[in-house]
Amino acid sequence: MAVIGIMDSGVGGLSVYREIFKLLPHEKYVYYSDNAYCPYGPKGAEFIQRRATQVAQTLLDKGADVIVVACNTATAAAIELLRSTFPVPFVGMEPAVKPAAAATRSGVVGVLATKGTLSASKYHDTKEAYGSVIKVVEHVGEGFVELVESGAGLDLASPKALETVRASVQPLLDEGADTIVLGCTHYPFLIDFIREVAGPEVQIIDPAPAVARQTVHVLKEHGIPFSQAPADGTPADIELLASGPRDSLERIFSRL
Ligand code: DGL
Repeated sequence: MAVIGIMDSGVGGLSVYREIFKLLPHEKYVYYSDNAYCPYGPKGAEFIQRRATQVAQTLLDKGADVIVVACNTATAAAIELLRSTFPVPFVGMEPAVKPAAAATRSGVVGVLATKGTLSASKYHDTKEAYGSVIKVVEHVGEGFVELVESGAGLDLASPKALETVRASVQPLLDEGADTIVLGCTHYPFLIDFIREVAGPEVQIIDPAPAVARQTVHVLKEHGIPFSQAPADGTPADIELLASGPRDSLERIFSRL
């Protein structure tokens, strides 16, 4: 059995855990929400590197065989450092511009992500790689992480949540985006609001299923044993850790 460590600034990484669990239902999971320091998005790279290093060490101390950095912002700031510091493989995340470029019909792809992700050189390199084929426009999901962490974004009747989402999604639509990439792991928890604003014609791309497949690939590549048996309803073996209060983590987990 593999021990899979998953880290994020908060509950967002549970949107990635949900997909990994579908493929690997019999492994042990340790999830770390660094919510005492959430959001990471507006913070500097050095701060995020320090936090990511500490969180990864905690997951390693818990026996993690592989660590999924289920956070685009932390991946952009710290994955190279993590890979060079620790002896286990790391799986990272980045905005899924590639599948979006293949899917768009209007030729305009919108990326929703945090300030940290959008200002990182990793993102600029990706954007440049597709810049000659499609137009990529972006917007920070202002207030999205706070909506998810506070639980306010889980109330589908909340007019405040809808207006918060509209303020960041509408500018992408105004630029002609017909495909929207969710470049932050908190945003899938707001997908109903994003769909409501964007309408049925706009495709929304969440990279979590691809990250789950990559996790399986990494386990195989490193010879880490895991069960290939299909899900049989056995409850998840997961330990939930948080650097701050645990209520948001338990609230979201209970809804998965
Ligand atoms: N969930 C994270 C991401 O994927 C970070 C959100 C935040 O802390 O700002 O980027």
